[in-house]
Amino acid sequence: MRAEVLPAISHKWQKALLCVQSFKPSYDRLRDAGFRVEHDLAGDGFDLGLCLITKHKMENLSNLGRAWAALRPGGTLVCAGGKDVGIASIERAFKSVIAEPSSLSKHHCKILWGVRSDDVPPEISQWVDGGRLQIVPGTGCWSRPGVYNWNKVDAGSALLAEHLPGDLHGRVADLGAGWGYLSLKLMERHSDIVSLDLYEAEWLALEAAKTNLGRVAVTTRLGFHWHDVAKGLPEAAFDAVVTNPPFHEGKAVDIELGRKFITSAAKSLIAGGRLILVANRQLPYEATLNSNFSSFSVLQENSLYKVISARR
Ligand SMILES: C[S@@+](CC[C@H](N)C(=O)[O-])C[C@H]1O[C@@H](n2cnc3c(N)ncnc32)[C@H](O)[C@@H]1O
Repeated sequence: MRAEVLPAISHKWQKALLCVQSFKPSYDRLRDAGFRVEHDLAGDGFDLGLCLITKHKMENLSNLGRAWAALRPGGTLVCAGGKDVGIASIERAFKSVIAEPSSLSKHHCKILWGVRSDDVPPEISQWVDGGRLQIVPGTGCWSRPGVYNWNKVDAGSALLAEHLPGDLHGRVADLGAGWGYLSLKLMERHSDIVSLDLYEAEWLALEAAKTNLGRVAVTTRLGFHWHDVAKGLPEAAFDAVVTNPPFHEGKAVDIELGRKFITSAAKSLIAGGRLILVANRQLPYEATLNSNFSSFSVLQENSLYKVISARR
């Protein structure tokens, strides 16, 4: 679960492992390295289940619960993660479902493992349920743990939504669409949008966006793409692009990722097309905007975010 290509995993594991990874860049790396990879866990009766811990606690518990349930009785459950993503709290949870686990600590990380019992502890179904689609408070929308800001509206996106130009029309794309907040705002306020294409790397987020947009009656053609935007987009395909680009991969700040979103957006726009973007104020995207667009201006800023409009 949340498998990654790791140099320590030898070739003999490639055939034995079913890798589960719903984040497209990691999924692609696993597939390109020759692993068997699926975006979701299917099957049961496994001898061994491995969970890599991420920063999303409820998703970790859900993955542990699902991996536990997919093991044969007597199978071994393993989980591993760093102190920085909260392995200490996961260890407490792990001990509640695996009697007397073994552990190994090194480099501020911990591995825990132990044998699955015959009887199902009550925590398993609670954890699995905690990972399902749930209402985002105050929005009427659905999302789930493992999705970026899964249980709230992102403050940057809220500012962007307030300052979306009223005349956006034609073919529009939402890059890094998450659970669909910006796309919903576009649908609510812009009746001249002919098609709206949502691009999102996290499969869990895209599924939530499908649910949320599916509940709005629109004549707009909707497209949902499980896609790594850093790898590019169809060229000259859109009249407008909106985005709140990611600036993290895992825990690390990654400014290059936002810059790649901007260059992918530029190439995907027709001449004269517009990019509307929100970013944390301190993120230095101006040079990339300068070299990929004919002009750009700040539509709005506050102490945390800037909303930028750039013309191709
Ligand atoms: C800052 S969030 C914005 C989410 C959403 N638009 C909103 O307003 O709440 C950035 C989104 O980009 C997605 N993402 C990260 N890397 C990506 C990539 N390489 N390609 C496409 N989407 C990506 C993340 O999963 C996340 O949903």
